[in-house]
Amino acid sequence: MSKRVILTGLRANSEFHIGNYLGAILPMVELQKAHAGTYQLNMFVPDLHSFTTPIDHSKLYQQVLNNLRFFVAAGLDIGNADTFIYRQSFISAHSELTWILDCFTYFGEASRMIEFKDKSQKLGHDSVSVGQFNYPVLMAADILLYGATYIPVGEDQRQHIELTRDLATRLNNKFGELFVVPETWEKQLAFAKRHAGVRIRSLRNPDKKMSKSVEDPAGTIMLSDKPAEAAKKVMSATTDSIGVIHVDWTKQPGISNLLQISALLDEKSIDETAKLWEGKTSYGDLKKRVAEQVEVFLESLQEKLTTIDETTVIKKLEQDEAVMRKIADETLLKVQKAVGLRS
Ligand code: ADP
Ligand code: TRP
Repeated sequence: MSKRVILTGLRANSEFHIGNYLGAILPMVELQKAHAGTYQLNMFVPDLHSFTTPIDHSKLYQQVLNNLRFFVAAGLDIGNADTFIYRQSFISAHSELTWILDCFTYFGEASRMIEFKDKSQKLGHDSVSVGQFNYPVLMAADILLYGATYIPVGEDQRQHIELTRDLATRLNNKFGELFVVPETWEKQLAFAKRHAGVRIRSLRNPDKKMSKSVEDPAGTIMLSDKPAEAAKKVMSATTDSIGVIHVDWTKQPGISNLLQISALLDEKSIDETAKLWEGKTSYGDLKKRVAEQVEVFLESLQEKLTTIDETTVIKKLEQDEAVMRKIADETLLKVQKAVGLRS
């Protein structure tokens, strides 16, 4: 019997920051360590999802390759036989299945997606793209083409997983067993355990998450930042006037964020790291420690990056894309037959 599939996609519409690294790339590497051998791991770049909101298109192609090099530098083993990396747009079945699923998705349910509601509120109804509206259906196609059961993603993606389950069930009821229905959100959470849920905050505005979508260079540590400059950003991080180190995301978000970053870089839980600092009064010492960790981490990551050659990544991508194309095309053909497009 073939292995069950864990599938996750990491957007690559701009450069990565340390929040992406700690919240998304590192969990992906941990997943591979924990489950390769038992599961098939699909770790793909949803490049078609990159421009539902405006981006600099002249950079996209290269950005995808650069970001994949970062995955490898972060420890993703692309020599592993159970791991497949691929670009969504290189497998046309993603787009084709999306159209078919679109015709079974109701306007009302797609309109209820929080991410769409947020974006359409920000941009205005006349400026939000139909691509943004359709985004969750493309995501459902990404998942259903490969029969994935576990899809480790953050809480913000929960509704999209639930929509995927609804669509799979709806089409199975109408046409017979076409799709593997992904596990429920509760089971996804239990499966992901500590792989999920980390939210690194901005160093400047620790009430907000660190994000490249917001203009906040002093609060954001990019993986390409010069290590010494990144250390300076940590030293000037916003804290509070309470004066005692303690994890409290409401009253002391800046301090909690520093403890969280420190813990993850040390491969510890935040509780373990907090114990070392709890009750101490010198914020400067904590900043110094985190600045040092960030500097060492970036130096080492950037050094590794120079050893990862793009040709190797492209070769692996092309190999995996050929394998994945076959699987995706088989699922698509089954669906095309079911809906009457093929005999
Ligand atoms: P951004 O908000 O910077 O535009 P994306 O939305 O492209 O980032 O997210 C890419 C991945 O990185 C997602 O899996 C997301 O959950 C994760 N991620 C983004 N920002 C953070 C953060 N501050 N802390 C933890 N994970 C994050
Ligand atoms: N929507 C996801 C995000 O913004 C990225 C994504 C696209 C994805 N397709 C997917 C994640 C399929 C998991 C499975 O983070």
